[in-house]
Amino acid sequence: MKIALVGLGRTGKIVAKYLLEQNALSMVLCGPNSVNANKDIGEILNIRDTGIRVETSDHLEQKLLQNRPDVLIDFSYPGFLMDYIHVFEAIGINIITAVTTYEAVELEKIKNTARMGNIGIVVAPNITYGVNVLMHLAEIAAELMDGYDIEIYEEHHKQKKDSPSGTAKKLAEKLQQNLITHEEIPIHAVRAGESLSKHKVLLCGEFDRIEISHQSYSKNAFAKGAYQAAKFIAEKTGFYEMDDVFKQEKEKRRNTLVMRLADENRRTLSLA
Ligand SMILES: NC(=O)c1ccc[n+]([C@@H]2O[C@H](COP(=O)([O-])OP(=O)(O)OC[C@H]3O[C@@H](n4cnc5c(N)ncnc54)[C@H](OP(=O)(O)O)[C@@H]3O)[C@@H](O)[C@H]2O)c1
Repeated sequence: MKIALVGLGRTGKIVAKYLLEQNALSMVLCGPNSVNANKDIGEILNIRDTGIRVETSDHLEQKLLQNRPDVLIDFSYPGFLMDYIHVFEAIGINIITAVTTYEAVELEKIKNTARMGNIGIVVAPNITYGVNVLMHLAEIAAELMDGYDIEIYEEHHKQKKDSPSGTAKKLAEKLQQNLITHEEIPIHAVRAGESLSKHKVLLCGEFDRIEISHQSYSKNAFAKGAYQAAKFIAEKTGFYEMDDVFKQEKEKRRNTLVMRLADENRRTLSLA
């Protein structure tokens, strides 16, 4: 699979390195005035030269037609897809966008493009595997512990622009769907120092409390999730979220488990 990446900020650089290690990176894009333009991605990452030059988004269509990536991974900013989503749609290149600062109207444009059915798009404000597991666990708890006070706490580095995080908002939305009352779930957001992503769901009752939390200690968690999403979307069209990626992953694991158990049963029977 050939992957194009846009966004070489704090997260994008880590994603680029991870994709190079998977032999999956074929193209890197940047804004027209970026200091990274025309540099070898290896030079930017302080590794060997790779032969992949960072290209500006000028004449994007021509560049994409030449390189023909299967998927774009976007760790840039909302304006990139707002300006160029039609180009990816016209050529038939699927998209994963991890950008978390879209306005509602921008998200609607992305969804509508996906619904046209020419390409597949994953919108992933919560791209880490572990955070999605946290969501599943918290949903179960919210469903079982009705009447408990539920609050969300999240912590990120002080440069993070959005507050609360896209993940915290998604968590609140999902938990609310599991509650009988439709009270809003409070989110407490901290932006301090260099802390990596931390999310915690608190469920406090009269006599006890549950805390479910996730913390990433490497940005590679984002890179790994983005690569999983790329493999998921490669052959699909339509609109998806990380939930869909993880449902497919769960299904695969369940099938492997069923096959293993069937195999063990067969062996036990043949020995009997
Ligand atoms: N979904 C998740 O789980 C997850 C995880 C981590 C981050 N994110 C999101 O990913 C985004 C980037 O995060 P970050 O921490 O890496 O931010 P960042 O350090 O500020 O990086 C932003 C990147 O966007 C690029 N950019 C700006 N204008 C551009 C343009 N016109 N065309 C193309 N690229 C342009 C910048 O390029 P230059 O440096 O060349 O200007 C920079 O590389 C944010 O929305 C963040 O919330 C999501």
